[in-house]
Amino acid sequence: MELKKEIIRLKDDKNAVILAHNYQNADIQEIADFIGDSLELAREAAKTKADIIVFCGVDFMAETGAILNPDKLVLIPSRDARCPMAAQLPPERVREAKKAGYPFIIYVNSYAASKAEADICCTSANASKVVEALDGDTVMLGPDANLAWYAEKETGKRVIPVPSHGYCYVHKVFRIEDIYAIRSRHPDAKIIVHPECNSEVQEASDFVGSTSQMYRYAVESDAEVIVVGTEIGLIERMQREIEGKTFLPLRASTCIEMKLNKLDVVYKTLLNENNIVKINEDVALRAKRSIERMLEVS
Ligand code: 13P
Ligand code: SF4
Repeated sequence: MELKKEIIRLKDDKNAVILAHNYQNADIQEIADFIGDSLELAREAAKTKADIIVFCGVDFMAETGAILNPDKLVLIPSRDARCPMAAQLPPERVREAKKAGYPFIIYVNSYAASKAEADICCTSANASKVVEALDGDTVMLGPDANLAWYAEKETGKRVIPVPSHGYCYVHKVFRIEDIYAIRSRHPDAKIIVHPECNSEVQEASDFVGSTSQMYRYAVESDAEVIVVGTEIGLIERMQREIEGKTFLPLRASTCIEMKLNKLDVVYKTLLNENNIVKINEDVALRAKRSIERMLEVS
């Protein structure tokens, strides 16, 4: 049995759609109906006419899809594909922080229950826009402290990170020394990185953006060599799809959780319609407000 063909057949029979993140492996991206960053996947999930959504990404992405589509079947191939950053900001921490009286922006990489406590959601693609859209010159943002730093730099507003040192382990590995080393070897290369990288790395780069914003930069750039500071799946996608350019990882870094969605698991999930993403109704309603507010703003 040719697994890819079988998945495509099942997809048509069941009126299902496969949404895949930029970090997914090539074979999954090849059978996906849509590939994108967190914001694009949320938008796509909000407008799909399919009856079933198979979310090839990590838990918070599939949960966002389920929150936006309470009447559809949302499936995640691997139940263990859980972004560890979400655990850094439990809902009680959001409630506690909000006592300071500032608006709380929650990064989409978070639990649904934490989104339910926040005022508005953001992704790496729209964090600055969301900060700008809020009244006042001080806001709080978590769990990623590097994204908070980035939004503060872009907007000039004070962005308090909650917790103070929330991070992604995949992006934490990039160092300023990596940038010096690559600049000396490839002086004409452009260096592009994700806002989950630390502030030194962001400042020394030519462009900072979400995974899809980096993809578009790579398409439009005149540079022959582009060095990319993010998870390896996006860099492999760029190398496969963008002709005539060389893409180098700033340092090879893999998100183990993202890679748990294997092709055979996607097949079994769609065949059996299992691994259904279910959110408590009250939590989902309140989290939906934060997500919809974000979609309106951006
Ligand atoms: P993007 O929203 O930029 O795709 O990022 C998601 C993510 O998990 C980054 O680590
Ligand atoms: Fe979470 Fe980092 Fe993996 Fe993104 S790359 S899903 S933030 S662990």
